[in-house]
Amino acid sequence: MKTRRPMVAGNWKMNKTIEEAAELIDALIPRLQEYNNIDLVVCTPYIDLPVAKEKLEGTNIKVGAQNLHWETSGAYTGEISAPMLKDLCDYVIIGHSERRAMFGENDETVNKKVAAALAVGLQPIVCVGETLEENEAGQTDEVVGRMVREGLKGLSSEEASRIVVAYEPVWAIGTGRTATPDQANDIHKNVVRPILREMFGAEVGDGMRILYGGSVKPSNAAELFGQSDIDGGLIGGASLKADDFVGITQGV
Ligand code: PGA
Repeated sequence: MKTRRPMVAGNWKMNKTIEEAAELIDALIPRLQEYNNIDLVVCTPYIDLPVAKEKLEGTNIKVGAQNLHWETSGAYTGEISAPMLKDLCDYVIIGHSERRAMFGENDETVNKKVAAALAVGLQPIVCVGETLEENEAGQTDEVVGRMVREGLKGLSSEEASRIVVAYEPVWAIGTGRTATPDQANDIHKNVVRPILREMFGAEVGDGMRILYGGSVKPSNAAELFGQSDIDGGLIGGASLKADDFVGITQGV
């Protein structure tokens, strides 16, 4: 029996106008209300956060953002800070591979963003994962291990206990190519979990959730989530359709 509370988080990426966001949320609320043993989250674009917050207040679905800046305020055109987000959402995705690949994020910026989020009480969902080249070169353990160590560097065990890690192999994101349940669980159990235990102690390390992300869909969710160290999923494409997101939640 797993003791960690499962989580299914949708990462809408750059999708959904305010109107479309309202429509999707209205469709999700009644269909997800029975899932009270799961932490359900929708991570929306910034502009959709107010409507998501308003509609989801008092429901079992929480709201998350997809990024933040590490400074609290100042001359950072186009950026959003942790204090600006904290009344709008509970979670924030940090270090998604698309941000690392396209927007210059690295382990150092991830570490600063994690600290900024924690300082205002936001719960970070910290993404780690290797590229196809790294995977084929046999560097998966090293790369994922480095991202966990550097991204979570300097945190206390109490702070770490509020963090969710998402293992998302880059080659599986949006490609339809999912890591097999065994492959994913192996990284969660034998790479990420031992580092969390080493950094934050066995009790905190064992209590932290490790989600899998990368082409999760209703048809493969149950098998993935059934693994010993896969504590739920971070869902991209399939979180944009109510049927798919509900179907994936049923897999927990
Ligand atoms: P995907 O994306 O489910 O569309 O593969 C997952 C993610 O990028 O978080």
